[in-house]
Amino acid sequence: MAFKKADAPTPAEQSSADESPRDPGSPAPGTTVASAHAAACGTVDIRPDGIAIVTLDQPDAKVNTLSRMTMEWFDKVINDLAAMPGLNGAIIASAKQGNFIAGANIEEMRAVQDREELVAMTHGANRILDKLEALPAPVVAAIHGSCLGGGLELAMACHFRIATDDRATKLGFPEVQLGLFPAAGGTYRAPRLAGIERALELILTGKQVDANKARRMGLVHEVVHPADLLKVSLEYALRNPPQKKKGGWLGKLPALGSVLPSFAEVKESVLEKGPVRTYILKQARESVRKSTGEHYPAPYVAIDMVEKGLAVSREDSFAAVEQTFADLAFTDVAQNLMSLFFLRQGALKTKGGIKRELKAREIPRIGVLGAGLMGAGIAQACAYSGIQVRLKDVDMKAVGRGLAYCRARFDEMVKRQRLTPVQRDLYMGNISGTADYAGFSLNKLVVEAVFEDLDLKRRVLQEVESALPEDAIFASNTSSLPIADIAKGAKRPENVIGMHFFSPVHKMPLVEIIRAPLTSDQAVVDTLALTLAMGKVPIVVRDCAGFFTTRVLGPYMNEAAYLIQEGGDITDIDRALAEFGFPVGPITLMDEVGIDVGAKVCEILWKAYGDRMKPPASLERIVQDGRKGRKNGRGFFRYDGDRKGTADETVYDLLPGGRNRRSIPIEEIQDRCWLAMLNECARSLDENIVSDPETVDVGVIFGFGFPPFRGGILRYADRVGARTVVARLRELEDRFGKRFKPADCLLEMEATGRGFFK
Ligand code: NAI
Repeated sequence: MAFKKADAPTPAEQSSADESPRDPGSPAPGTTVASAHAAACGTVDIRPDGIAIVTLDQPDAKVNTLSRMTMEWFDKVINDLAAMPGLNGAIIASAKQGNFIAGANIEEMRAVQDREELVAMTHGANRILDKLEALPAPVVAAIHGSCLGGGLELAMACHFRIATDDRATKLGFPEVQLGLFPAAGGTYRAPRLAGIERALELILTGKQVDANKARRMGLVHEVVHPADLLKVSLEYALRNPPQKKKGGWLGKLPALGSVLPSFAEVKESVLEKGPVRTYILKQARESVRKSTGEHYPAPYVAIDMVEKGLAVSREDSFAAVEQTFADLAFTDVAQNLMSLFFLRQGALKTKGGIKRELKAREIPRIGVLGAGLMGAGIAQACAYSGIQVRLKDVDMKAVGRGLAYCRARFDEMVKRQRLTPVQRDLYMGNISGTADYAGFSLNKLVVEAVFEDLDLKRRVLQEVESALPEDAIFASNTSSLPIADIAKGAKRPENVIGMHFFSPVHKMPLVEIIRAPLTSDQAVVDTLALTLAMGKVPIVVRDCAGFFTTRVLGPYMNEAAYLIQEGGDITDIDRALAEFGFPVGPITLMDEVGIDVGAKVCEILWKAYGDRMKPPASLERIVQDGRKGRKNGRGFFRYDGDRKGTADETVYDLLPGGRNRRSIPIEEIQDRCWLAMLNECARSLDENIVSDPETVDVGVIFGFGFPPFRGGILRYADRVGARTVVARLRELEDRFGKRFKPADCLLEMEATGRGFFK
């Protein structure tokens, strides 16, 4: 580590240098401390008042991560600051746009093959953060942008945290989503700052909170406008004179007593003791069990580590964390979830197979046709992303219902304190309603979400084409109709594309972009850009009935319907697939989607693909009985208002076998359903509807919740092995017919021993 003379100070720095009293021991004003280490990951400027500004700026990266290189550099910086006479305080900031520190470097972590190496890595990070915390002068984390995982743990090792009220500023522990838990002090420090319950809320859900929520939780001391971040951070850094450190972390508390006034209070009031603590931890375990069952070990381990952090010595607790973290990281679940992270990153970078460099056009406003469930959902999601929306339906009454739906979504956000009422009103102001095409001449893109009816969609397309600019894109949200069929008769078929959202739009991350044979590259690029601007995850697929997602969901849902027709019990079938790891069982899903809608889609798929997609005859009887699912309170389940009740046994009266149900083994239910889906995924690859296995896995996980801990349907198939998969499909084909005939690529894999990813 070397000291080097900084560039000449700016006039502002010079004037503040002239005013501030100089500690005789402090370094010269305007001195920059820079690492002699070649790979500097930021700068360290020493101000005339003895405050060091450490600005993280990882080279060649959009965001800062706690990579080996960053930590090595940071370690040297802290050593230098610790040894620096006259250090009055330090501010840790970031030079990255919209990012403080995004967390650990997952790529590096995943590359570690040796358990002991991972233990050493975690131990090293903990030692560095301990040194940061033990610096003899106040250290302030100046947080602007994402402050996640290891980034938040670093911030928590600082004595103060000041965060901006910018939308980009988010704090949280996403580790559980990777099958891990925060192992760099998170399970130890978070409960001490926020209380056990709130710390667990962050650690177990992976949810990210804004600065205001973080302040209410006790994680952040002050929330400021970005323009005031440095000023306020400096005030905090200057708040206390340097103190002499007294031993370890707890030992130095008296020395920094005034720096950490809240800690003493926290110790007294928030670290719930005895039975209260036991109760909170028990509740946490129960709530994890309820929401994810036993599939994800990380949340349980995280609770154990929080408990340990409160029960044993600090050293023992950190040692346990480091060992347990390494054990967890090498489990299949964590490895699958880390792969999923990279799959998602890959999807966010997709160019949809377009080779040439083509720039997306700015789409500041869009039109939405149809203000029903999907149209209103799309309008709300766009408005929330700052895009102006013109929402059209057949009359103002329908438009009003759509606007009310949007407003209700924003109201929920206000209720959850994710928005202020003023922000809600501003976002609502992005949506205007109309019963004609007034204002559409300004739109470069229109999303169509009228009824699933080919003639209607064609008519609407022809109408809107004359109201739109020549180069405007028509993106249909159809869930099953081929885009080429909708584009028939269009004046500009090259501008017609599929943009398939999932319900409910504000919750579901996937958007399936469907490219028809005549769709232009520009339409694909623009639709991709809009998807990303909405914060969604895109996959680009080729055109066919049902595209990719509906096409592979069809056989899965059909199989569940066959199981009921054969005498299976609704609850058993749902439970089997929920135990497999789906968020809800297929019968619940049918009720949610709408049995009438599902049946209509099944018909379209049957027509397009023949008998392998033929739905069971009894499905039609159920539709004819007026059962639409949740929306009319009559489906496979009973409904009491919004509350879903138990299975409605009267539905069995419409089926062969009546109420006399038989028990089907859970493995048979699971295999029939997931293998039906897998077989269709494999066919979609054979037919080049999807270009690669990654797209399949992103589609099934983000589109309808294929269990993430299995890493995706194809990754899971690889684990099971092509030979076993094909053998099981053949067995099912013998019993249930051609719909289980293995797809070509599965047969090839069986013969060659290859897999989708290997
Ligand atoms: P919905 O029935 O809730 O809404 C359709 C809306 O279109 C109605 O408000 C209707 O008045 C309006 N409409 C009819 N003719 C119109 C016209 N000429 N101009 C403007 N508006 C018109 O239907 P939903 O569920 O929103 O579905 C819309 C589309 O989205 C369908 O193509 C459907 O297949 C697709 N989709 C539906 C999903 C779902 O879960 N409901 C999921 C993904 C796609």
